Amino acid sequence: MSTPAPGLNEVLQRTFAFPKPHFLSVTDLNEVEVANLLDLAESFVALNRQTSKKLDLLAGRTLMNLFFENSTRTQSSFELAGKRLGADVVNMSPRSSSIAKGETLIDTAVTLNAMQPDLLVVRHASSGAASLLSQKVTCSVVNAGDGQHEHPTQALLDALSMRRACGRIAGLKVAICGDIAHSRVARSNIAMLQMLGAEVRLVGPPTLMPSQVDRWNVAVHHDMRKGIAGCDVVMMLRLQLERMDGVMAPSQREYFRFWGLDREKLAHAAPNVKVMHPGPMNRGVEIDSDVADDLTVSLIQDQVEMGVAARMAVLATLAARLDNER
Ligand code: NCD
Repeated sequence: MSTPAPGLNEVLQRTFAFPKPHFLSVTDLNEVEVANLLDLAESFVALNRQTSKKLDLLAGRTLMNLFFENSTRTQSSFELAGKRLGADVVNMSPRSSSIAKGETLIDTAVTLNAMQPDLLVVRHASSGAASLLSQKVTCSVVNAGDGQHEHPTQALLDALSMRRACGRIAGLKVAICGDIAHSRVARSNIAMLQMLGAEVRLVGPPTLMPSQVDRWNVAVHHDMRKGIAGCDVVMMLRLQLERMDGVMAPSQREYFRFWGLDREKLAHAAPNVKVMHPGPMNRGVEIDSDVADDLTVSLIQDQVEMGVAARMAVLATLAARLDNER
């Protein structure tokens, strides 16, 4: 690169080797490692806002995106993250419907591994899929969402968005609201936020709470206004109809009345409350457009921007680990 981009030295100083060969779960990291990743991601935020966004930290490396489930934000942000760091990026979206899931996954993993990728980003409808795949390949695996289990890079980008907007994470009161039962975003965020010292509350109808929620060490509220009272961050989740068998699915109008975030309910939160949503949003179901589009409270677009930076930090550190192993 002829003129070093501002922030490049910072990036190089902050890049370290990822502590594990794979990033499968928030529990792969400790508090200090998360803080270091967030600091590194900050320097990618600066880089991504420039005209020239390219670095060569992943030059010569191959990144494969293997998405068995649909994705807009996650897949494109991993693709951009890989390309901005100089990797060759291949996107694959196999259809998993006709073949038994376990077989598809393992066959595909072994086939792809033979092409010598360095990094494999995987999303799959089955909990544990990324971990299973990591045992069958020789490259680094990143979990981009496995069933309702975990979505660790989402938790990282959410932490980055929160830290930028609120100046800290420790001590924040965060309400995660809606369809907790089916949400990998909720599971990863609870683990991440508790590690970073936030107070997490879960808010939603009893039918959309996980059956063993009493073992999760979080306060559970079944009244939206009481649940978000005094909260610094209100994180809304999508009603994940594709994971419901129809029994739990309420009428969407009823759902909005009790659990949809609108101005009136939001007024119960802290005065400087920030609203988050991982997307895709069901407008008028779990969130009112009036709130989602108000940039003075909504971090939803910031979350998308931070997704690229956070994933660059993960890929750069995983690649640094691969470099050390050479
Ligand atoms: C989430 C996911 O796929 O788990 N979305 C995302 O990654 N941006 C949440 C969802 O699908 O509701």
